[in-house]
Amino acid sequence: MIVTIDGPAGAGKSTVAKALARRLGFRYLDTGAMYRAVALAGMRRQLDWSLPAELAELAREVRVEVRGERILLEGEDVTETVRTPEVTAATRFAANNAAVREHLVALQRAIAGREDIVTEGRDQGSVVFPDAECKVYLTASAEERARRRVEDFRAQGKDAPFAEVLVDMVRRDESDAARDVGPLTRPPDAIELVTDGLTAGEVIERLVRIVDNKRQERRVRDREQNG
Ligand code: DC
Repeated sequence: MIVTIDGPAGAGKSTVAKALARRLGFRYLDTGAMYRAVALAGMRRQLDWSLPAELAELAREVRVEVRGERILLEGEDVTETVRTPEVTAATRFAANNAAVREHLVALQRAIAGREDIVTEGRDQGSVVFPDAECKVYLTASAEERARRRVEDFRAQGKDAPFAEVLVDMVRRDESDAARDVGPLTRPPDAIELVTDGLTAGEVIERLVRIVDNKRQERRVRDREQNG
């Protein structure tokens, strides 16, 4: 079964998608980390961001691998490096590049193969796996997402002013939604889960129930088809 989890930045997708994959024994795919890895490759090569064809060529050239919850670039584990603010800021050049997206979408489909997978991103249910059996759109208000981000920073010993984090969050939402290719949208057949006021544990429980319901639906369908 393919489970897609899409939604805006800071909705808590990574935490719950990882936990859900572990609970179900499914493979986990963090597609944001793939865009981040391509941006990191571009930074290391000191690419000129105003030349999108160069980044597209580089994306096709470098080896981006996903190993469980880790992301490798040319064999180097860059899971932590791709989450630095510098890489986060540069990632829009990869995410807004149609040729980079085309390449990564093909890679994501190849990784999923025929396996059971929980995949998270912005376009997983809409573009990459339109036939996925279980689609979730995970969201929360911008204020809630900014509040959580401030707490994350605090846990890392960093002080980030709420107002600044909120402005940045809204800016990323706009950029994600306005993209010509693979914009953030809620697929019509996705189940929307608004996580304001819910703990990560509560969200995971709801996701497990959503997947269980889909499995039950499949069983009923199979039974009907088999007479
Ligand atoms: O989920 P994240 O913050 O790691 O994503 C990093 C960036 O990549 C973010 O700006 C959105 C973009 N992204 C995307 O365009 N498509 C995806 N499938 C996943 C992430």
